[in-house]
Amino acid sequence: MRGKVYLGLVHYPVYNKGGETVATSVTNFDIHDISRTCKTYDVKGYHIITPVDAQIELTKRILGYWQDGFGGQYNKDREEAFSTTYVTESIEETVKGIEEIEGKKPLIITTSAKTYPNSISYSKLSEKIFDDDEVYLLLFGTGWGLIDEVMSSSTYILEPIRGSARYNHLSVRSAVAIILDRLLGEN
Ligand SMILES: C[S@@+](CC[C@H](N)C(=O)[O-])C[C@H]1O[C@@H](n2cnc3c(N)ncnc32)[C@H](O)[C@@H]1O
Repeated sequence: MRGKVYLGLVHYPVYNKGGETVATSVTNFDIHDISRTCKTYDVKGYHIITPVDAQIELTKRILGYWQDGFGGQYNKDREEAFSTTYVTESIEETVKGIEEIEGKKPLIITTSAKTYPNSISYSKLSEKIFDDDEVYLLLFGTGWGLIDEVMSSSTYILEPIRGSARYNHLSVRSAVAIILDRLLGEN
């Protein structure tokens, strides 16, 4: 069912360039741009996932400015975009929160620029989202992407986006916009 799609932007656990598992910093671009994209495609909740206290505090301060502060009064469209953006400390906490709202655990869908043997196509996942009663949590990585354990614990891995070139390393903001359009857009 289309109205039960959630999105998580994972800042931990993700890889760094050296293949180590790290926590990355939240960027202002990702707070704003992904909130706006999620609202446009009717995503029920956008979860910015970070366990780092200083990052949680900073992100909440920025969200508060647009959700309850002067920013929201000044720009109502931005206030609306931020109305379903949250900070959560882990993937597990995000899943638990969604389960409390929906009464069932979400199916986890992970995304990557790499191909995995058990990848699902956009058309197949889109069909499922529109036809079944499941709740979905789409996870996107930061840094050098989601760690293998997160990839392998998901229900489905989405096939990578490909343009017309071999290069396919998109910014996470671009990947979110393209994927939401492929899964939930008018076509
Ligand atoms: C690895 S992070 C890169 C973060 C980086 N700091 C940035 O520029 O935004 C990008 C995330 O976007 C998604 N992504 C990037 N390229 C993709 C592609 N070709 N197909 C599917 N998802 C992709 C994945 O979720 C990936 O973990």
